[in-house]
Amino acid sequence: MEEGIRTIAISTGGGDAPGLNAVIRAATLAACKRGWRCFGIRDGYDGVLFPERYPNGGLIDLTVESVRGITHLGGTVLGTTNRGNPLFMKVQDAQGNWVTEDRSGHLIGCLKENGIDALITIGGDGSLTIGAALARKGFPVIGVPKTIDNDLNKTSVTFGFDSAVSFASECLDRLHTTAASHRRVLVVEVMGRYAGWIALHAGVAASADVILIPEIPFDIEVVADKIKEREARGRDFSIVLVAEGAKPIDGEVSVVGTVRGRGERLGGIAEKVAAQLEPLTKKEIRTAVLGHLLRGGTPTPFDRLLALRLGAAAVRGLAEGQKNVMVAVDGGIHYVPLDEATSHMKLVPVDSDIVATAKDLGISFGSRDL
Ligand code: F6P
Repeated sequence: MEEGIRTIAISTGGGDAPGLNAVIRAATLAACKRGWRCFGIRDGYDGVLFPERYPNGGLIDLTVESVRGITHLGGTVLGTTNRGNPLFMKVQDAQGNWVTEDRSGHLIGCLKENGIDALITIGGDGSLTIGAALARKGFPVIGVPKTIDNDLNKTSVTFGFDSAVSFASECLDRLHTTAASHRRVLVVEVMGRYAGWIALHAGVAASADVILIPEIPFDIEVVADKIKEREARGRDFSIVLVAEGAKPIDGEVSVVGTVRGRGERLGGIAEKVAAQLEPLTKKEIRTAVLGHLLRGGTPTPFDRLLALRLGAAAVRGLAEGQKNVMVAVDGGIHYVPLDEATSHMKLVPVDSDIVATAKDLGISFGSRDL
């Protein structure tokens, strides 16, 4: 049992996902129930690192009253950022040159100055890696897995994923009817930088004809053959669902630009696939990019419940003396070392039963090998 905790802070980092506010509410209520004070850090860690940017303070007092009625709201009431990783902070040295510095020690100092005894960091791979660095330096941290992409290791699911799959499936249903009416091919792009979970689950649930995911490099000729084979059977429309990180067998991922300090920004794969399919199939083709629509909006009941469970479990974990762990779901709730959770991404296993189901349903992955 942890005796020393009086005040905790909650941080939301990286891309937002439906369910963040439900985690914040559950963690706050569970903390208040134990008599702890609870703060929310604004915009990742910016609220404590750069308090001067916040005229009303970089910390938000989280109370039973202030978290009322937020469970169903999308986004995060704390704000988030996926820039300015404190492990690789760009700072100017004495000569005025920009250098990269690990500011995690400084961040711990800022947390302690604010009287914070422990941290709940709600995030994906990036935020949890920062959390692990703080924990290695001795600061108590519990991570809560968040990403619509569902690509975090050591947990069977992340909150936000179900909401993204639900919305993508609804969009595919809508696009189906317009594709069929016009006898067109619709190429639909969804998020999924390294892993194709959203495309796979939504594509199977909503009967896409082709699913292209990062784990299975695609051959555009195979995609075109599927569309032509359907045409020959009188099915004169097709839905091709492509994850933003999918790449052709002989090519690279589609990049639209770079984000300073974060690397490549993906996008544009739907347009590229459409441009190559048009001459091969002689079909009229349209594209739809669901992009950030998948991250917004109200969480599904599944995600709300999952997020509430994870938030409450994070506080229970702290109360039991857990630190340097992520709350994970695998049947029940487990605590797994943060380092293990962030050591590698959870990719779609090509031999999984959902891939096998898709193949049995006649869905193509654009590969001759599958
Ligand atoms: O949340 C993860 C993710 O959805 C990735 O699939 C995508 O590449 C990324 O976010 C885009 O984030 P942003 O546009 O906020 O930089």
